[in-house]
Amino acid sequence: MKGLDCFFRPRSVAVVGASRDRGKIGYCVLREMRKRYKGGLYPVNPHADRIMGLKCYPSVRDIKELDLAVITLPRETVPVVLRECVDKGVEAVVIITSGYSETGKEGRRREEELKNIIRGSRTRIIGVNCLGIYDAYSGVDTLFLPESKFRRPARGGISFITQSGAFGSTILDWMSSEGLGISKFVSYGNQTDVKENELLEYLDRDRRTRVIVAYIEGVSDGRRFMEVAGRVVKNTPLVVFKAGKTDMGSRAASSHTGSLAGSYRIYEAAFRQAGVLEAQSVEGMFDLAKVLEFLRPPRGDRIAVVTNGGGFGVIISDSVIRNGLRLARFSRESEGRLRSVLPAYANIHNPLDLIGDADKVRYEKALDILAGDPNVDGIIVIPLLQTFSLEPEVIDVIAGIKRRAKKPIIACATGGRYIRRHLARLDRKGVPAYTSPERAVRAMRALVRYGRVRGS
Ligand code: COA
Repeated sequence: MKGLDCFFRPRSVAVVGASRDRGKIGYCVLREMRKRYKGGLYPVNPHADRIMGLKCYPSVRDIKELDLAVITLPRETVPVVLRECVDKGVEAVVIITSGYSETGKEGRRREEELKNIIRGSRTRIIGVNCLGIYDAYSGVDTLFLPESKFRRPARGGISFITQSGAFGSTILDWMSSEGLGISKFVSYGNQTDVKENELLEYLDRDRRTRVIVAYIEGVSDGRRFMEVAGRVVKNTPLVVFKAGKTDMGSRAASSHTGSLAGSYRIYEAAFRQAGVLEAQSVEGMFDLAKVLEFLRPPRGDRIAVVTNGGGFGVIISDSVIRNGLRLARFSRESEGRLRSVLPAYANIHNPLDLIGDADKVRYEKALDILAGDPNVDGIIVIPLLQTFSLEPEVIDVIAGIKRRAKKPIIACATGGRYIRRHLARLDRKGVPAYTSPERAVRAMRALVRYGRVRGS
């Protein structure tokens, strides 16, 4: 198989250490895999004949053809099974087991042993000390997280790689509740063999991945990472959230996944140079991922603001300037057209205030004019859905203009449950929507920055 396809699109999968005991990882992995994965699935356990109705094999040696082995065994048993995989020519092995370099000298020795076993062979390892893989398209699911507690996100265009399994999995859970879709998720733990660089290159070539998000504590080879990232971003946007920024955080990272976090300042500068978009918070990570998944970057940084809530026009204008973007100056022609379609008491300059009694028709006319204005590169629209006159169908109006426009449109609406429901509708229709002006503007800034990265 090509590249890392053996991990993500295997024809057959063995769960080695599949257990009959509901309380064990080997039980959960088999159970979740069985729900989604449609290829050949083989539990391996020398002490059982059948598990969950599936024929059980004493060893991987007894399975005819095998692409991926998921190992959920104690570390003492892992070398034996890994050697069997190598002898059999199994190309992909995910090792969930922990107790390696993250625990000190003895653990490091054990991890070296695993590296030596696969040296010179065609067998590759993801892990050790990881959750492994979730691929929403192929159904490969090695996460030991029962669905009753953890909903998998739907299929989408975001791929997410993470050094931390715990953090990664909670984010996946959160993504599903936010309606964000995933292509591939990889928790790669100690990077014993497959490292983040290789994952980035693979995801860059994956046609289902439109944006890559990476949670990083420390990288395996800084120079190489920046080189690879610099290449990847020309084709696929890359959003990074770097943890271990402080001395204490960096020390915690080293005992978590055995990584050397290094000085944050160096990372920060290197990310910028490579064209990587750095998020400063967990929400920020996916705010950026969402906008980069849905929209193409604008040609420039001249932003139009459209609202029926004057106060929001002022707040967003401040934020646009603070974030280094510019407020567009509408063309004469646009101003003339706006004057002819809006009431005499409306303000026809940027930020465009459609006034508190605006309805969806007013929005449609105004957005249509600005979508065609050559002086406007991107639009932030803030519908105040709470007003009596603004129909919820304004969501369809915005989505319709977004489909026709050759420039990005981002939405923002602040409020309670009613508003959140409509924001979710906007997201579903491909208009990235945010609950606060600041988040919406940062998303636009990321899009503008990414446009520069691609254009440079
Ligand atoms: N081949 C296949 N199965 C074997 C075997 C072999 N050679 N030897 C034993 N087994 C079976 C066991 O009998 C058991 O099945 P059973 O429960 O039906 O009897 C099953 O494999 C699991 O082995 P067990 O010894 O019970 O392991 P465990 O579940 O207690 O622990 C790990 C294994 C991997 C879960 C544990 O070592 C570990 O690392 N836990 C932490 C994982 C983690 O947090 N990873 C990082 C996430 S971010």
